[in-house]
Amino acid sequence: MKSYFPKDFLWGGAIAANQAEGAWNEDGKGMSVADVARFKPDVSVEDYKSQWHTSLADIAIAKETDDTVYYPKRRGIDFYHHYKEDIRLFGEMGFKTLRVSIAWTRIFPNGNEEEPNQKGLDYYRDMFEELRKNGIEPLVTLSHYEMPLYLVDHYDGWVSREAVGFFAKFSETVFREYKDLVKYWLSFNEIDSVFRHPFTTVGVVEEKYADKKATEEAIYQALHHQFVASAQATKQLREIIPGAQMGAMLTKTMTYAETCDPEEVLMAQKANRDNHFYADVQVFGEYPKHVLNYFEENGFQIERTEEDLRLLKDYTVDFLSFSYYMSMVVSKNADKREKVGGNLTTGVKNPYLETSEWGWQVDPVGLRISLIDLYDAYRIPLFVVENGIGSTDVLTKDGTVEDDYRIDYFREHFKQMNLAIKDGVELMGYTSWGCIDIVSASTSQMAKRYGFIYVDTDDYGKGTYNRYKKKSFHWYKDVIVTNGDSLYAEQESERTAAEKSPAII
Ligand code: BG6
Repeated sequence: MKSYFPKDFLWGGAIAANQAEGAWNEDGKGMSVADVARFKPDVSVEDYKSQWHTSLADIAIAKETDDTVYYPKRRGIDFYHHYKEDIRLFGEMGFKTLRVSIAWTRIFPNGNEEEPNQKGLDYYRDMFEELRKNGIEPLVTLSHYEMPLYLVDHYDGWVSREAVGFFAKFSETVFREYKDLVKYWLSFNEIDSVFRHPFTTVGVVEEKYADKKATEEAIYQALHHQFVASAQATKQLREIIPGAQMGAMLTKTMTYAETCDPEEVLMAQKANRDNHFYADVQVFGEYPKHVLNYFEENGFQIERTEEDLRLLKDYTVDFLSFSYYMSMVVSKNADKREKVGGNLTTGVKNPYLETSEWGWQVDPVGLRISLIDLYDAYRIPLFVVENGIGSTDVLTKDGTVEDDYRIDYFREHFKQMNLAIKDGVELMGYTSWGCIDIVSASTSQMAKRYGFIYVDTDDYGKGTYNRYKKKSFHWYKDVIVTNGDSLYAEQESERTAAEKSPAII
């Protein structure tokens, strides 16, 4: 097998400001929804609903304290002060790109100021310049679970139309500021996650709404505002940085039917269509009919002005990016089946797949299926911007981690990407999630590590914060430098060695 990765394939890694930077109240930064996320050691890691649930009381408590032990996203891995060192390591691995996000609250601390915070602007300028010095193309997410808390308190987050205007000011500011440095942009991280964790994504605090239905309606309204804000940002980008590209960002939740029972196949199809709804709006520029029918059936009054609809239609995205961690199974008999956890969701266990330590089903072939599905549906370039395995790593006495399990995970996923490219999929690049260990989004643990680089700190922030290269660091470097050839060279050398010393029979 040969490598089909195109010459200019963007190999790299991904992090988000709120999980990496720390320095939550330095240089004028305001509080964001991430600074409210409390580490809950007593809650089971599979119980994603309790992990993410945020009440008004939680917000009030968080606002009163400067604690960083139980609010790990406030300290992250101190990337804010270590970025030069970290970027050098990414450069050493040969990264072509690094996906980062801009914390909105570093630029507009409350979200509604007239003037941006100069120190915040300077920080990202320095960071992007450092990336360029190391030959790394920045890929920048405008919003990765980082909305200003002030907008939640004073405007009901994204449910308020005002959020669109505040965001437009933020996006225009950063486009103007970094027009010479950043070419690839993403608007909203995992835009479909609004229903899975509404507080972190759209600032919806469930108890503010009368019942489940009212909450759902509010989330749809907030989501609509994000769609509009994304189209508005695309419009600005076209004007301010000609030639730059805007991507949508979806959580690809590949769903299989448990059996070939047509009813179950239909259930799986529905799950996949619901997942694609978000990309439909951002790629085709209009709401799919099944979603409009759903609004009607439920009596949802979502305010969607003529101007909004025009904007959505006129400013669709250039590429579709997505995260891929696992696949799911639906069954008519779900209540009788063993369950598995997942990327903020739960499903039926797939007997053909292994699970990670955190119960996520590892499915490299599912990545190939996802790539083909998405490409066939949308026919625009794709970009895998998150993928990886969270595991407990042990630092050895020699200052490394023998993470062969991670290497195996990536090898299988990369081979499936290669096959998808052979199948005709246009794939721009790949950024592994948490290329350096960072705080987990869902559990706020440090113990759940994804990186090629180990960071010496624990769930309570103790440690030196020193960085160590794991075994996978060197392995990924080889993959990048050979543009995927090394994936097959390993096999080739095993084959030749076996031929040279045949087993005695
Ligand atoms: C994605 C998010 O859902 O999954 C990331 O975009 C997150 O922010 C990643 O970190 C992995 O999830 P977790 O909970 O293991 O950190």
